[in-house]
Amino acid sequence: MQNGDAAKPKLMEADDKITGYYPIVTNTMCMNCHADKSKIDSKTLAIINELYPSDAATGYTENQLRGLWVIEMEKKK
Ligand code: HEC
Repeated sequence: MQNGDAAKPKLMEADDKITGYYPIVTNTMCMNCHADKSKIDSKTLAIINELYPSDAATGYTENQLRGLWVIEMEKKK
């Protein structure tokens, strides 16, 4: 991503399993809850604060790699 490429999913194969790595990249929709607190709709922010009082996942911008799904699949014998 630092080189301007899109983060792509990747499969790694071992003897008995295949592991898939799927990037979690932010988009416009995510900003409804993850933008700077000053930019989040006040009703949304009130609910997030109520349900997740220790939420620190704000201040994101779009097109950031923010996580990775890691899925292990057993190979058929
Ligand atoms: C409806 C509101 C909402 C939307 C939309 C949303 N999130 Fe979240 N997200 C949250 C909340 C609230 C938390 C914190 C949950 C907690 O503390 O358990 C969270 C947590 C996260 C975390 C974990 C943060 C950490 O450091 O532990 C990541 C990564 C994340 N969101 C990514 C995304 C991405 C990427 C999108 C868009 C594809 C997205 N979220 C859309 C509300 C939202």
